Amino acid sequence: MKRAVLASANPGKLRELAALLVPAGFELLSQAALGIGSVPETGTTFLENALLKARHAAAAAQLPALADDSGIEVDALGGRPGVWSARFAHPGASDEENLARLLAELAGVPEPRRTARYQCVAVWVRSADDPEPLTGTGTWEGRIALAARGSGGFGYDPVFIPAGEQRTAAELSPDEKNRVSHRAQALAALVAALEARGVYSRP
Ligand code: IMP
Repeated sequence: MKRAVLASANPGKLRELAALLVPAGFELLSQAALGIGSVPETGTTFLENALLKARHAAAAAQLPALADDSGIEVDALGGRPGVWSARFAHPGASDEENLARLLAELAGVPEPRRTARYQCVAVWVRSADDPEPLTGTGTWEGRIALAARGSGGFGYDPVFIPAGEQRTAAELSPDEKNRVSHRAQALAALVAALEARGVYSRP
């Protein structure tokens, strides 16, 4: 059993991270349950922001910490919103506001030019000042739908159609999404790195 604090306050993400890691034998404590607040995401890359979050939670909890930073890159927008995905409409925006802003910016862009991808970087630190964090990355290719569909997942899922699919990510079951998503890929890579370091062995 590997105990760690999960450095996220996003309920959608916490659900997915727990579904992916608890069966692998991790005991995860959410930072909110430990009374730990969030840290400003001042980095300009997913890796920088994931590290900021992991170090902050590790310092406050005095435990190893796992964080992920993720977002969506839209080709027709030059890769925006990227690391600003959670605050695309404005700081503190809801998922609905961000999604509406994305559809508005893509108004008139035809389907072949609506390509996009989710990116995720997952980070594990043993302590706040760990000099050698472990990382895993994942990419999920797809395109942005013309209108929102489905009620599963979170964030931009109602407008993200994974490559090879007709359904949006919000129309996939949680299990389907967790088999292929950017977050699932990043965590699988991170778990492999933890195994290679001997921190973790498969149950
Ligand atoms: P952060 O990693 O907490 O800074 O925020 C990531 C943001 O990217 C989320 O708030 C969503 O807007 C978006 N995002 C990341 N992963 C997903 C996903 O799996 N589905 C939908 N939106 C996502």
